[in-house]
Amino acid sequence: MANAEQEDYWNNDGGNRWVADNQELDELLAPFKKLIVDKLDLNSGDNVIDIGCGAGDLSFEIADIVGESGAVTGVDISDPLIDLAQSRRGNDYPQTNFVKADAAQWRPQTPADAIASRFGVMFFDDPVAGFRNINAATKPKGKLSFVCWQSMMENEWIAGPVAAIISRLQKAPPPTDPFAPGPFALADKDRVRNILTESGWTNIEIDPWQDQLTIPGSTAEKSADFISRNGPARKLAEMLEADMDVVDSIVKEVLQSRADDQGTVKLGGAAWIVSATKA
Ligand SMILES: C[S@@+](CC[C@H](N)C(=O)[O-])C[C@H]1O[C@@H](n2cnc3c(N)ncnc32)[C@H](O)[C@@H]1O
Repeated sequence: MANAEQEDYWNNDGGNRWVADNQELDELLAPFKKLIVDKLDLNSGDNVIDIGCGAGDLSFEIADIVGESGAVTGVDISDPLIDLAQSRRGNDYPQTNFVKADAAQWRPQTPADAIASRFGVMFFDDPVAGFRNINAATKPKGKLSFVCWQSMMENEWIAGPVAAIISRLQKAPPPTDPFAPGPFALADKDRVRNILTESGWTNIEIDPWQDQLTIPGSTAEKSADFISRNGPARKLAEMLEADMDVVDSIVKEVLQSRADDQGTVKLGGAAWIVSATKA
């Protein structure tokens, strides 16, 4: 089942912010589309499900590959994001369909040839049950491919600003459950392997991806605003009951110190590229 807190987050603050910054987020996450799709060996006419599809960037990429004889169903728990995906679809992608549902419970009428997800599978209350439901939505021998973040410490684009905030404010947040639904819930590679094995997947491959992410924004200041709006810095500020203006200025300093001559900021990112086959 979807985590109630996550469902609320993606239908309110989190979903609305993702809608507002959709273009920038698609820019940031663009490198992952090819990595996901390359693992699926898709053919024209295939029927694919995109889990936690958000505004549909990956769904449209897959729609171009499977063509009009294929089908792509984007499933997402967020009303604002499903609405945006529908509006982006327009008349250009008749082979796409966007459904507002909890992917841990929803089942398609016809099982899919393949399942894809770009950072949309880390939010289940019970990940084994969630991936088992996704398994049931897949044809025998169907493929699964998704990306999820490695730990916060491996992701400099998040850890850098967070460490600067903690150090400057001299306050640390209370410890939290590292496996709780959220961006880092699948950061532990062994745990991912166990979850997938238990939920009926085989041929599990978990490849590391580590590279520089270009932080959206034409200047370091705009990139810092993007991080303040979308990164865990905001949640951290709330947990520390810190003044958001102070937090913003700390994030700005960090990003300015990392900008190149053109004002472009690149920071390290780390994800797992996970693929498997229905057993
Ligand atoms: C980090 S965003 C990624 C969005 C999109 N895949 C992308 O890359 O642009 C995570 C998405 O997962 C969705 N989500 C979270 N829990 C879900 C669930 N149980 N079922 C379906 N979607 C879910 C959120 O609403 C959100 O759109």
